[in-house]
Amino acid sequence: MDLSLPAQIVHGEALDTMRGLPSAAFDALVCDPPYCSGGISTAERTSRTAAEKYVSSDSGQGHALPDFGGDQRDQRSFTLWCSIWLAEALRLVRPGGSSLVFTDWRQLPAMSDALQVAGWRWRGIVVWAKTNARPQPGFANQSEYVLWASHGQLDRDHQPPYLPGVYTLGSPKGRARRHITAKPLPLMQQLVRAMTPGGLLLDPYAGSGTTGVAAVMEGRRFLGIEGSAAYAQIAAESVAAAVAHHR
Ligand SMILES: C[S@@+](CC[C@H](N)C(=O)[O-])C[C@H]1O[C@@H](n2cnc3c(N)ncnc32)[C@H](O)[C@@H]1O
Repeated sequence: MDLSLPAQIVHGEALDTMRGLPSAAFDALVCDPPYCSGGISTAERTSRTAAEKYVSSDSGQGHALPDFGGDQRDQRSFTLWCSIWLAEALRLVRPGGSSLVFTDWRQLPAMSDALQVAGWRWRGIVVWAKTNARPQPGFANQSEYVLWASHGQLDRDHQPPYLPGVYTLGSPKGRARRHITAKPLPLMQQLVRAMTPGGLLLDPYAGSGTTGVAAVMEGRRFLGIEGSAAYAQIAAESVAAAVAHHR
């Protein structure tokens, strides 16, 4: 891996790949790991495929997307697993660097525990309020969350700008949705703007490469890791197109 490249995708297992990377090589971790969520009961969460759990209102419209793995851990193993890879990510991000990690309402307590067990300093929470959430009896589960943390003290010379804590926008639909759980590109662009300009960002669960495309568009460098061959291919193509366009 050449960390001086503007952006690249590695097809591999996240933790294995991270263990081969040099300490303090990155300015930030920006990632959207499998939530191991979706479904009301533990049995439902651990038995159904990701594709069945994350059904959206535009599914079944002739736009088939590959399933992905790593999404069936129960609550205890999810917390332990996250604390292991988040500790490895802390080694890779330089002191003063930061992290943004997505989670949902169900896994928020587990993820915030894991983040702090791993040694990150939790700084706050950003809300993604979705405009196209599915209605359900009672309150809609309309938000996802981004945990903001730092490796020790935040940089004094690269303080982030003043930013909102709530972002209201819809999830990708139709052909713009290149992953079952794709994040909106405009959301990712706004989030990466808080990271060091020109800095190197790590996303060990890159999916279709949305974080990488946003990083390139916003003048940051990027290394993404993705375990699914199908999604690694999609991400590599998306990131390469973004690099070519923004050269
Ligand atoms: C929530 S999705 C990321 C979606 C991405 N933010 C996007 O917009 O396309 C999580 C991704 O992590 C990948 N993944 C799960 N476990 C993994 C592992 N152990 N190593 C590498 N990738 C993994 C899955 O294949 C999936 O594509």
